[in-house]
Amino acid sequence: MSGVEIFRHIRRRAALALGAAALVLAGTGAAGAFPTKPVTIIVPFAAGGPSDTIARLFAASMGQTLGGQVIVENVAGAGSTIGIGRVAKAAPDGHTLLVSHISHATTASLYKTLTYDPVGDFAPVGMMTDGAFVLVSRKDFPAGSVAELFQKIKAGGEKISYAHAGVGSGSHLCGLMIQNALGARMNEIPYRGTGPALSDIVSGKVDLLCDQITSALPQIQGGSVKAHAVTSKAPVAALKLPTVAESGIKDFEITIWHGLYAPKGTPADVIAKLNGALKAALKDPTILKRLDTLSTIAATEKQANPDFLRQRLVAEIANWKGIIEKAGIKAE
Ligand code: MLT
Repeated sequence: MSGVEIFRHIRRRAALALGAAALVLAGTGAAGAFPTKPVTIIVPFAAGGPSDTIARLFAASMGQTLGGQVIVENVAGAGSTIGIGRVAKAAPDGHTLLVSHISHATTASLYKTLTYDPVGDFAPVGMMTDGAFVLVSRKDFPAGSVAELFQKIKAGGEKISYAHAGVGSGSHLCGLMIQNALGARMNEIPYRGTGPALSDIVSGKVDLLCDQITSALPQIQGGSVKAHAVTSKAPVAALKLPTVAESGIKDFEITIWHGLYAPKGTPADVIAKLNGALKAALKDPTILKRLDTLSTIAATEKQANPDFLRQRLVAEIANWKGIIEKAGIKAE
């Protein structure tokens, strides 16, 4: 090989090596510098509800770990599909995230024209919490036992008003399942989240609501609403209440899990950095104490993995598809 050919060979090898180094730097650059601006967590329900409460709790802790501001923005409407759709179209750079729960799964069957693919358009970061609903009423609602409440629902029908956070929301599905089991139809009042719905229960403007214990517990403990039953199979320590399942609706169970997602295409090392901050939050004593006070279960280390959330979402979409079809609930 002549001197010139050797020089050209070395120059080619050097260019390849530089190119590879640039790729590596670009890759680590995505996570290395991340976040380069405030991270926004979209909550697809109104402020003041359980999803909002959980998002704000985690945002504060994750901001400390990431060394940058993490803010929460409420993008409510259409049972959470407006907010979910916003994140599906956001830049996949890790600066826009979504806190979503079972409505991410139920709306996949309840809406004919979603603007996004509930699974394919998202990069799961990890599960955050799990919890149950509690059936609450305005405090002067004329029902003592749960059996009496169910009798009133059956007899009252449309005269009884039932609040929820939009078609496909957890509060909507919870109420629908109770109405279907009782063969009753109440007058449904949709809200942009159970934060405002709970306020109307407190003021007596609406009769009943299935709210996440995360949000309703302080009002129950303060005596401003009446609590009747919890929707988990197991009792909830902070609430001396029967379960719906042992109160006449056999095998009834609905619990609600919140997960953190980024848009698909978010670099893997950015997802890893976000996952690290999520897991740090799940070990943060302040977070754990607050969740415990709200009878909300922190995700385990395993549940906080992206693959666990991806598998849970796929399973829940199938699970709710079956429940919705069996119940004859029509898509919007
Ligand atoms: C629901 O599913 O009912 C929502 O979580 C309510 C909310 O978070 O405001």
